[in-house]
Amino acid sequence: MSDTKLFCANKYTILGIETSCDESAASVVSANSVRSSVISTQVDIHSDFGGVVPELASREHERVIISVIDDALRKAKISDPQREIDAIAVTKGPGLMGSLLVGVAAAKSLSLAWGIPLVGVDHMEGHIFASSLETAPAKLPAMVLLVSGGHTQLIYVAGPGRYQLVGSSIDDAAGEAFDKVARLLGLGFPGGPAIDLISRGVEVGQIRFPRAMLNKGYDFSFSGLKTAVLNYLQTNKGAPPELVAASFQEAVVDVLVKKTFAAVKAYGVKSVVLGGGVAANSRLREEVSRVADQVGVQSAIPAPISCTDNGSMIAAAGAFRLETEGPTDPSFGVEPSGRLNYFG
Ligand code: KG4
Ligand code: ZN
Repeated sequence: MSDTKLFCANKYTILGIETSCDESAASVVSANSVRSSVISTQVDIHSDFGGVVPELASREHERVIISVIDDALRKAKISDPQREIDAIAVTKGPGLMGSLLVGVAAAKSLSLAWGIPLVGVDHMEGHIFASSLETAPAKLPAMVLLVSGGHTQLIYVAGPGRYQLVGSSIDDAAGEAFDKVARLLGLGFPGGPAIDLISRGVEVGQIRFPRAMLNKGYDFSFSGLKTAVLNYLQTNKGAPPELVAASFQEAVVDVLVKKTFAAVKAYGVKSVVLGGGVAANSRLREEVSRVADQVGVQSAIPAPISCTDNGSMIAAAGAFRLETEGPTDPSFGVEPSGRLNYFG
């Protein structure tokens, strides 16, 4: 990684494998260029249950992982992995135990068979490094807003690999709130993309949902907002779903953006980075880049497809770990509750 940017300066070619939740994904990334990205989603399997069923997720990963990896290699035109791939990066955690085990077992087997190094990667560091793919990497120090189905965090990146947790959700993650509100509105699973879509072009202002803890530090709370939507729907039967969805989305985006830029200012960073599935949200992307321009900091926002879980982000973070720490000993185990190493 350069001293001043969030990316790996070394031009490795990495096979990235990601199976932490309900996407079986593999990618080939050379430097910061995505040569292939294959994602087999399990949405249809879990949608009837309104959430991911761990047992079904791991079985499906096992069924498809080899063909997903094969596809990624073929699309990247890799014919001799032993020579053309420098390392295999795989998500070691956090995530679902059974799901993680499938990706890690596949990565260990291929590393042994091909005689190439293996790198265990933290899923959240993957989301952070998605910002280095196909775009200008973020200048350091940076403030990262990491918003996914399981996490809502503000992370200060002081320098290469130096993370400080600035704030996080005290209850529901932002993605979880999107999914739960979508369910209340009968929009299906996962709810984030459905709410994003239905809200486009809708004039907000008629309904004002609460913005919890707006002026209280850098932690977040979204469970009260979900309850406010439920109460509103119960007392306003027949309310247009797109209006409720857009007003909910506006409340989430408002809180995320205000807290992020308060932290940007307090920490004096040079860039703001978005990561995680909720970073695919069109309204959040629009607001973060607008305010970043306004206050004169760089915004590093990955393409929507690189925000939701994918193998490229694992390859990008894997390249950085390979450069700074070398390969991971193949005896490493999965870390379902793993967390980044924070200082301070
Ligand atoms: O990062 P991710 O793919 O998986 C986890 O690591 O959790 O994030 C998934 C979350 C889900 O809650 C999904 O509803 C949300 O990201 N999401 C979105 C959008 N696309 C995905 N939320 C809001 N707007 C979107 N466009
Ligand atoms: Zn994720």
